[in-house]
Amino acid sequence: VPGPLIDVDVGQQLLVHFTNSLPEETTIHWHGVRLPAEMDGTPRMQKPVAPGGSFEYRFAFKDPGLFWFHPHIRSDDQVEKGLYGVIRVRAPDEPESDNESIWVLDDVSVLPDGSLPTYLDDESKMLGRQGNTLLINGQATPRLRWRAGALQRLRIVNVANGRFFNLALPGHKWRVIGTDGGLVPQPYDTERLLISPGERYDVMVIVDGEPGANLTLTNEPYERGHDTGKADPMPLAHIGISDETPLAGRQLPTSFPDLERLDDGPDEVTLDLNEKLVGEDLLFTINDATYPDVPLIEVPEGDLRRFAITNSSKMDHPFHLHGTFFQLLSLNDEAVPPQSLANKDTVIVPQMSTLRFVARFDEPGGWMYHCHILEHAEGGMMGEVNVTSP
Ligand code: C2O
Ligand code: CU
Repeated sequence: VPGPLIDVDVGQQLLVHFTNSLPEETTIHWHGVRLPAEMDGTPRMQKPVAPGGSFEYRFAFKDPGLFWFHPHIRSDDQVEKGLYGVIRVRAPDEPESDNESIWVLDDVSVLPDGSLPTYLDDESKMLGRQGNTLLINGQATPRLRWRAGALQRLRIVNVANGRFFNLALPGHKWRVIGTDGGLVPQPYDTERLLISPGERYDVMVIVDGEPGANLTLTNEPYERGHDTGKADPMPLAHIGISDETPLAGRQLPTSFPDLERLDDGPDEVTLDLNEKLVGEDLLFTINDATYPDVPLIEVPEGDLRRFAITNSSKMDHPFHLHGTFFQLLSLNDEAVPPQSLANKDTVIVPQMSTLRFVARFDEPGGWMYHCHILEHAEGGMMGEVNVTSP
């Protein structure tokens, strides 16, 4: 944990010989990768791979960025147990840095005897499983070594079922240079880097500290509902500044090429995210229905759709759309700031808010959308866009 890094260049083809050695069925979904729908690894587009069965995934990478892969069947259980890996897709002209690392952020619940819980408690059903142990690349509070003055690039993905990571590093701000779908035209600084499940951020820092000093990277509390903001900060990693002579003269990038801006239009798809208790069961709903009863959204190939997503519940939901990127328009009717222009596939819809975005659908087939809190997705908060070819 995590699985192997798939490290490729834009335009490269990938062929994956996949064998299912689990005692239950599964698939592999390539989160954020724009590919043909038959390769998307959802039970909508492929027959689940039975125990002992196999499948070949074959596709090419159209976009640079950090992507990841995980099962799309019982993902709440299978991803929690460690079935995930990342894909780095490099562009021919990547920004320069002295060092580049990938951080795969997760958490796991460990019982006092060292075992993992097999039951799902009420809080986990409500918030998604949140572990008591935080992991970077499968390790609890690793010791990392950075060189003073170095331009450090970090590509970060949150693969946790429910936890939102909110990263702070004393004496440093994060320069955000990219997100889900690659670099952003207007990099910006933030003290806290908030990453919901499924999202990616590409950031840079110039390492500030005396040789020999130690920094603690922490996960700061964030209120995503139900008093989650009252938690204590948790250490995530210890960063030691090496004894090497500090590097000098490094500069953080200030701009990247513009993105093609998708046309805006009237609201055409309106979704309402909510929760309801039916008997003992807590259900997570879209327009008052649970998957597969959420009405299908039909879009002709090549068309744009503007989505208005209202979150009527008292917790945030990270909304993920398969197969394409979207661009944010507004939150609660206020236009998003210009630095938000980015290609996203996962975004936080804050509690009691309405978020609007626009997406273009270029690939025919069935594409899922869902909350990336995996217990919410499995609890019903999932739907489908069907892109029809003429
Ligand atoms: Cu990463 Cu449908 O999910
Ligand atoms: Cu949710």
